[in-house]
Order: sequence, then structure tokens, then C-alpha cells
Amino acid sequence: MAQDLWLSSILSSQQLSPLCTYIVIALLNIFGLESLSLSKQKEDSSMEKKWWHGKVAYQIYPKSFCDSNGDGVGDIQGIISKLDYLKDLGVEIVWLSPCFKSPFVDQGYDISDYQDIDPIFGTMEDFDELLAKAKERGISIILDLVINHCSSEHEWFKKACADPNCEEAKYFFIKKSKDGKLPDNLRSYFGGSVWEKLPGHEDEDLYYLHYFAKQQPDLNWYYEPLREKLFDMINFWLDKGVAGFRVDAIMNIAKDLSFPGLPADGADGMCSANKMTAKLSDQAATFLYEMNDKTFKPHDGLSVAEAFGVNQESLANYIGDNGFFSTIFDFSARELNEKYPAYYRYRPVTIDKWREAVFAAQNRANPIGFLCPIIENHDEPRGVSYYLPTHARTPDGAKAFAAVNVLLRGMPFIYQGQEIGMTNTKFNSIYEFDDLNAKDNYKVALEAGLTETQALDILNIESRDHARTPMLWDDSKNAGFSSAAVTWLKVHQDYHKLNVAAQKDDPNSVLSFYKQLIALRKSPEYKELFTYGDFQALDPVADYVVPFARVLDGKTVYVIANFEDSPVSYGVNADSKILLSSKEVQLQDGTLTIPAVACVVVAL
Ligand code: GLC
Repeated sequence: MAQDLWLSSILSSQQLSPLCTYIVIALLNIFGLESLSLSKQKEDSSMEKKWWHGKVAYQIYPKSFCDSNGDGVGDIQGIISKLDYLKDLGVEIVWLSPCFKSPFVDQGYDISDYQDIDPIFGTMEDFDELLAKAKERGISIILDLVINHCSSEHEWFKKACADPNCEEAKYFFIKKSKDGKLPDNLRSYFGGSVWEKLPGHEDEDLYYLHYFAKQQPDLNWYYEPLREKLFDMINFWLDKGVAGFRVDAIMNIAKDLSFPGLPADGADGMCSANKMTAKLSDQAATFLYEMNDKTFKPHDGLSVAEAFGVNQESLANYIGDNGFFSTIFDFSARELNEKYPAYYRYRPVTIDKWREAVFAAQNRANPIGFLCPIIENHDEPRGVSYYLPTHARTPDGAKAFAAVNVLLRGMPFIYQGQEIGMTNTKFNSIYEFDDLNAKDNYKVALEAGLTETQALDILNIESRDHARTPMLWDDSKNAGFSSAAVTWLKVHQDYHKLNVAAQKDDPNSVLSFYKQLIALRKSPEYKELFTYGDFQALDPVADYVVPFARVLDGKTVYVIANFEDSPVSYGVNADSKILLSSKEVQLQDGTLTIPAVACVVVAL
């Protein structure tokens, strides 16, 4: 049996005791895993067909989508009231960011009860109603699976704090200091050490591990009974009729149990936790095969992972026919910036860099499986403001970007508001931000010597809160999002003209263009091509042009987005047919003339 399968099967074996798991993992830590190829590469190029292939997905951030009860926060009944809107857009899969019980330190990514709905969003009955009404409209719901960590308010952690020798304490990483120092020198994603004194035991030498906020203790995946609890929870939702999950921050579940730390990457003497995660991805893979076998696979569930830094060699393990996920988001453009440990050290990612990164990722995925193309999500600023040149941060730019997002190979995710061309919100003071990451980055920037104005300017480019401001439905109070006097996060400054109502019946709006793109993607003539057709990069001809082809069985379609501030010419066949364009495009003697900030889709 190949080494990889051997490893995978012994670690997922029911008979393996937790102690044996520890020993195997410890040996792997000692001898290193680089030599072990976990690769399960596909042998032929045909792809197993799945129910979700060919669908377009949409991400809802429940706090900001639609507030039905006037408390300033979005809720499930609000989402139900917009299902027809989503159906009309052409969306068939909806991902809900967490709606479980939570103290909301990290906006629901700190879960205190995995099997209940937070009252701020409604009840389990509301959720069941959402599932049923979505199904009536042909929409599948996927939830957010946050299982690298839970909330410090979860009863498991409370029990661990009450008695560090109890069963639940084994669900976490609780350690003593080493030589009078913290157990290791890793830096949490939200700043400061990953180690914190165990609450209630401040006078003792006991620390617990948290890769994110200190209210998000990491779960110990090396303890089998904990894994079984998590798998039962996943099955509870899948049995209920949820179609799958987006899987949060999952590669972080792998830990080096000797907690050796890493060479410092900053003046604070610490090293980013993500460097340790990157080193241990093969260990995570072992657990992920087990999770898939025990949960998603038997339900034919969809798993869409948040996995950064996946290289070509291991991609098949993630998204191949025998991979442990159905698909993963394409973060290749975002990763260009992720390597900077603080916002203030960011480097702008222009659309040419975006193109290079995304095209390389598309090429990598072509023979293996599907990625999920995105422009933005709840962790990122608005893509139109971030990646496009200033002159293209307009509805025209949003349309051209839309063509790229919707027609690239893979399952596109549209983030709420993207379909109307939402841009970054203008925040006037640090007090207008909500996100803990924004506040931490503001502090870090000031400590690094930036002025308050400079630090605020950076947040106005980079903050996650840009994606989290309320959805803009119409030009009434709070953009029709809520009847409350104050909403939980400020409303975008342009809502009087930038909103769904203003675009719904306008055939030239960004929203109408998204609908046309999705309809083209799903049209009987082009559905197979846009679903299974290969991606091929085309000659960019200028810095800010994003051109690619989709090719299947001798059929070829070109998608060309021009973000330059002047027209570009592009050679095609003399008898090519324009399928869709965002502005009037000329086709003469086999040459397209695409106006500035516009896109065209052409069948050759
Ligand atoms: C993921 C989520 C992000 C959250 C983090 C910790 O990256 O997308 O919003 O803060 O995980 O759960």
C-alpha cells in the first residue's frame, strides 16, 4: 500500500487509540512529512460529475444582509424575504457566514453552541423555514464550519477552565511554560502571543492556545473523541438538509505537539502562526480525509474550504476526485498581500498582478478540479476598490470584473453587494470600525510610527469592515436594510444612488449585467463549456487587460475585460459572434475594438 494511503488509513482508523494517534503524529513531527507524498493524483482527465457543478454561489453575511425586526442587525427572516431576489439573480447555492450562538467577538466566528441559532438571527424554526423556502426556489444552503477553534464561552472551554484535568480540557491545548517562557513564540492572527493564561488559573503555570483572538481557543484535533464530536455536529446539520459547509481556517488544525516555535519574523520576537500551519499541511490532510469519509462523503455534501497556500503538488489531495474537499476558494490574488504581517505594510495589488496570480491558479486547477473564483468576501475590502485602477472603480469596472469572476473556470462566489458594484465605505474615524482586526492593525500602525490619519487611511483601504457594511436595498433610511435608528455598522455613503432598487429595472445596471452573465453561464448552449471547459490564458496586450478563453470539445469562447483607460484591439476569427458585452464593442474583419473599462464575451 502506498505510504500516503497507509498513513491516511491508520490515522482515520476507528481502532486507533488517542495515544497511538499522538505517537504517530509525534513520529511524523520528528521525521518530517516532506518525504511522504500524500498525493492521490487523478489518473485520467475526466472529472466525476457532481450536483453542484455548474452552479453559481452567493455569500451572505447575516448581520448585514436584511434586518426584519428593526434591531439594526440582519436576521434569518430578513434572508427569507430576499430569497426571490437571489433566485432572480440566478444563484443556486447560498453560503451563510456563521449564524450559530456566539458572543460575536469575531462576528460569529467564535461559536459557543454549534447546534443552535443565535437569538440575534432568530430561532431554529426560522432556520428550518429558510431551508425549506430556499429549497422551493432551487437554492441549496451551506453553512460555515468553524472548527479550528470555538468560543471561550463554549461549555467545553468553561468546563476546561473549571477543571483543567477534566475530559473537556483534552479538547484544547493547555500547556505549561517552558524555561519560564511561553510554550512557544507564535503570534496570533489578531496580534499578540497565541498563548494566554487559562482563565481562573491566573496564578498557576497554565496557558491555552489560540491562533485567533483569545476568546477563540483552538480545538485539539489530535484527541479522537473531540473529532468525533465535531463529526457528529457536521452530520446533524447535513441530516437536517444543509447541502454542505464552507470550511473556516481549516489548515490551522495541524499543530506541532512539541510546540517548538519558529524563528522570529518581527521585532516582537514572534513568528506568524500561519508559518507553522504551512509547515504542517500534510498532517491536516490526514484529519481532513477522515472528516470527509465520516461526514461529507456519505451525504454527498459540498465542502468549500478556506485554505491558503495550497501548492501544485498537493492540490489533487484538496480538490481532485478523491480529494478531501469538494473545492477551495482561489485566494491567489489575496495571498500576494497576506504575507505582510500588518495592514500598514500592505502593497497595492494591481489588476495585472491579480491576473498573473489568478491565471496561474486556474492553470494549476485545470487538470485536477475546481477552484472557487472570488472578487471579495467578508474578510476583504471591496475588490473594485482594491484591485482596479482609480479610473475603473466605477459601475463599468464592476461589470468588467463581473465577467471575469462569473466566467472563469470553477464555481464563482458572489459576495453580497458585489452584484450591484459596491465599493469601499468611507470610515471617518477609528470609532466607526467594528472589526477587532481593524482595531489591532490601527494600534500596530501607530506603534510603528504612522500618524492617526495615515493609520486611518490604511484601514480605509484594507479593513474587513468594508465588506461588512449593510447591504444596500433602496434609497430609504439605512438603505432599506433596517428600520432601526442605528445599524450595527455604518451604511455606505453612496446608498442614495447605489442600491438594488435603482438597478433592478435598469438594463444597463451592474445588477442586470450580473444576471445576464449568470444566464449565459447556465444557458443550454454554453453551460457545459463554462462548467467543464478548460481555462486558457490569452495574450494580455496591455497591463490592465484580463483576457482568457474557455475551451471544450472544439468550442471556444473568449472573455476579455479591459480595465485600461483607452480602447484595446483584440484579434479573433472573422466569423466570431459576440455573446455579451458591457459596452458597444466593434467586431470588424476579425478584430475586436473594446472600449475603455469594458468587457466582451465572444464565441469563436
Ligand atoms: C476565517 C474567517 C474570518 C475569521 C477567522 C477566524 O478566516 O473567514 O472571518 O475571523 O477565520 O475564525
